[in-house]
Amino acid sequence: MDIRKLYQDEKLPMELLLLADPSREIVEEYVNRGECFIAEFEQQTVGVYVLLPTRPETVELVNIAVIEDKHGKGIGKRLVLDAIRIARTEGYKTIEIGTGNSSVGQLALYQKCGFRIIGVDLDFFVRHYSEEIYENGIQCRDMVRLSQDL
Ligand code: COA
Repeated sequence: MDIRKLYQDEKLPMELLLLADPSREIVEEYVNRGECFIAEFEQQTVGVYVLLPTRPETVELVNIAVIEDKHGKGIGKRLVLDAIRIARTEGYKTIEIGTGNSSVGQLALYQKCGFRIIGVDLDFFVRHYSEEIYENGIQCRDMVRLSQDL
């Protein structure tokens, strides 16, 4: 599997991006301001992540997704570790990520990759999404913020 930056004129892997974030409008907005990377295996795009500079020396991993039939094979972990490597190479000092309180697997993955929980934005998803979101039998209400020094 190879991970590479998406070329400027290349089509966005929108279906994949929407797996991590249901709002096409929000995805298009941050992809335009950030850098999009894709993972390819046997000429198929199997994963994506997006890095977005947010503050001086800080970058956020705003989207990460793997195609559904390839979940649980270690691709997500490789993408997160690649994002950390690229962020460090590009000179950032901090990488951040946010996820829902109900995203149990994602919270495990990010902590296994070195992220620490630094805060919780209470009721973020209640305020920003019109539909109620449920995952793992838990209502997704709060945004858990994680960070890692590079
Ligand atoms: N408890 C403990 N560990 C868990 C876990 C749980 N409930 N769920 C997952 N993990 C661990 C796995 O064991 C693995 O760690 P390991 O390598 O040490 O065993 C790690 O988390 C991730 O596994 P991996 O196979 O690399 O993940 P993946 O390829 O399935 O990709 C996502 C993970 C999140 C990218 C993928 O599920 C996805 O695309 N989901 C939809 C989009 C999404 O939710 N994006 C994130 C938005 S915040």
